[in-house]
Amino acid sequence: MAKLTIEEIFSSASFITSDAPGRVNLLGEHTDYNDGFVMPVAIPQKTRIAIRKNSLCEFEVYALALGKKAQFTLEKAPDDHFASYVYGCIREMEKQGVRVPPLDVYIDSEVPMGVGLSSSAALEVAMLRALRSLLNINLDDVAIAQLGQKVEAQYVGVNCGIMDQMASSLASTTDMLFLDTRTLDRKLLPIPEETEILVLDSGISRALADSGYNERRLQCEEASRLLGVRALRDVDDLSSLESLPELYKKRARHVVSENNRVLRASLGISAKEFGALMNDSHASLRDDYEVSIPALDHLVDLLRNHSAVYGAKLTGAGFGGACVALCQSGSAALVGSETLKQYDGASTKGRILVPV
Ligand code: GLA
Repeated sequence: MAKLTIEEIFSSASFITSDAPGRVNLLGEHTDYNDGFVMPVAIPQKTRIAIRKNSLCEFEVYALALGKKAQFTLEKAPDDHFASYVYGCIREMEKQGVRVPPLDVYIDSEVPMGVGLSSSAALEVAMLRALRSLLNINLDDVAIAQLGQKVEAQYVGVNCGIMDQMASSLASTTDMLFLDTRTLDRKLLPIPEETEILVLDSGISRALADSGYNERRLQCEEASRLLGVRALRDVDDLSSLESLPELYKKRARHVVSENNRVLRASLGISAKEFGALMNDSHASLRDDYEVSIPALDHLVDLLRNHSAVYGAKLTGAGFGGACVALCQSGSAALVGSETLKQYDGASTKGRILVPV
């Protein structure tokens, strides 16, 4: 289907609108499903939703980025993957006791998809916000994030933590959201002074992301069971991991050390120290958690060797996708283009995603 404007697809523009951003995680990777700490910021790219009641017996959803339309009723989940997010949001609202009438939904997303910048969470949060406005529902931003996470687990099939939805719902582009994923206590903290964030896509899609993600999650649960703790969040001393079999020790070492890095970063450290923590985080994700790939390691190495970069790491689940660097203020665009000149090869091409 062609890319159509809202007027072309729904023949009127009298809609209620909402939006939500994607996120990039600076520190605290694979800690959220271990009840740990994370530190994402919102990215400038957003997903925008326009919504209105229709006079049909079914929901009609159009996604501009995909040029695709889907129709469904509440009784039967849609076959199209993108529409299952919308369907899930509606079903979750109904579970809250809200009756949702048939709707027209127009999705216009500029959040890059499939690279670890939470395009899914942005869609869920934007859709839930749209329903909140249209139907006057009393739901706060934390409740929106929690519903979004349920949608992801129950209708999309990814057993993710709460970081992405909390970031999309509560983070800003200028401050880091320091979040305790167990208690949901949070603080907005300034990004280290005189710095700027750069996100580069490795150009390699995240092939094993879902299976690898769920496997890591199970390994962490097993490690907690062996250690007799509720979650790996409850361990802060690396020496208590010694008794674990090698594989579980590595996985747990990443989570415990990563939590310690986020806690350290929350103390208001210098850009140089923050960058060093990002470098350590990448090494831990690569060696202990084993969720990096050679292309990401290469890109991260190139970034780290740039004189205007404080530190760099993969961002999100890994297995491909994007990496993030903390750069000297005003240098991110140049760092991005210089790095890509060295990176781009015959079969792989990187992209600058932030700054846009
Ligand atoms: C994905 C998940 C998050 C989080 C990250 C890794 O983005 O959706 O919940 O676990 O991976 O930090």
